[in-house]
Amino acid sequence: MADDPVLLSPPDVGPLEESYLLSAVRSGWIAPVGPEIDAFEREVADRVGRAHAVALSSGTAGLHLALLALGTRPGDVVVVPTLTFVATANAAVYTGAEPVFVDCEPETGNLDPALLERALHDLRRAGRRVAAVLPVDMFGSCADYERILPICASAGVPVVEDAAEALGAVRNGRPAASFGQASVLSFNGNKIITTSGGGMLVSDDAALVARCRYLATQARQPVPHYEHLDTGYNYRLSNLLAALGRAQLRRLDGMLVRRRAHRDRYAKLFGAAPGVRVLADHDMGANCWLTSVVVDPQAAGWRAADLASHLAARNIETRPVWKPLHLQPVFADADRVLSGAAERLFADGLTLPSGSGMTEDQAARVAAAIAGFLDRR
Ligand SMILES: Cc1ncc(COP(=O)(O)O)c(C=O)c1O
Repeated sequence: MADDPVLLSPPDVGPLEESYLLSAVRSGWIAPVGPEIDAFEREVADRVGRAHAVALSSGTAGLHLALLALGTRPGDVVVVPTLTFVATANAAVYTGAEPVFVDCEPETGNLDPALLERALHDLRRAGRRVAAVLPVDMFGSCADYERILPICASAGVPVVEDAAEALGAVRNGRPAASFGQASVLSFNGNKIITTSGGGMLVSDDAALVARCRYLATQARQPVPHYEHLDTGYNYRLSNLLAALGRAQLRRLDGMLVRRRAHRDRYAKLFGAAPGVRVLADHDMGANCWLTSVVVDPQAAGWRAADLASHLAARNIETRPVWKPLHLQPVFADADRVLSGAAERLFADGLTLPSGSGMTEDQAARVAAAIAGFLDRR
């Protein structure tokens, strides 16, 4: 019989989540409002050091609303890292703005500040209005905000931190989701904590969060009948799912420890293998949402894809790092400022099972499969 699959990052839910969900169901608040939502917003805001939060149906919704609240309009441009999930750029497209793709630092996969500066300079000279920059905290490693924030401030461009993957990470003592005018978290099923689907926008700007809450609630005016001055969205999180999120948040610190242990194990396994490194391995503040290795095929004598096939044959899931968005057919016409780093990471990177629910047996199976692969090289 084939071994059970070992997945990249499946949901890690158990009895605590069951009990929180059950008591939310019994409370009668089966709605996109309720006490679990209020508590979840407060708890997440406290955890990331922000004053205000609005719980949403997805991280994508949060990015969309943040851009709208900052006044993004058709004809604007939004600077997006090319190495990210498509949602980051889609949020710009939903507003009618155009994404402009900027390449990444090879060590971390995060937005390259020098290229960002060049992109903002070129866009200004071309007379384009830049509505926002959306740095992404790639796989749970915060972007280089010590450089990015001053560059954006001096260009007069707001920053929305796409912290979808980064809850629990820190950078120089500051939590992920505390950088820029607003930050967005995702609680999708594969994220470090999950509400099955969901997200949250956090900010210190009360007016911005109030505007997002209003837009997320069909832009309903505070009058007894239904009155609308703006086009709104149905983007609120359910009270039941907020309860699930609260249980997950209570377990976050334990989950971080387990994801870090996977990264440490991979670092040890590949430590003696020539031409292999762990992406962002120097970042001790990373939440280790996903751990990827980067393989230099010349030095290693094998390719990331060879390891992927070896593990797939043993029912162990892996995945390349994000395919750069400038290579996606849907963005064929988008402007870009590139160094080649994202394309190299796409060719040479491989993401390994990283879930906090991975059992000791599964982790040992993955380690044995990798050791067996390396032995034969
Ligand atoms: C970097 C990044 N941004 C945005 C999102 C979108 O979040 P959601 O799936 O909650 O809409 C995700 C993940 O799904 C992501 O990884």
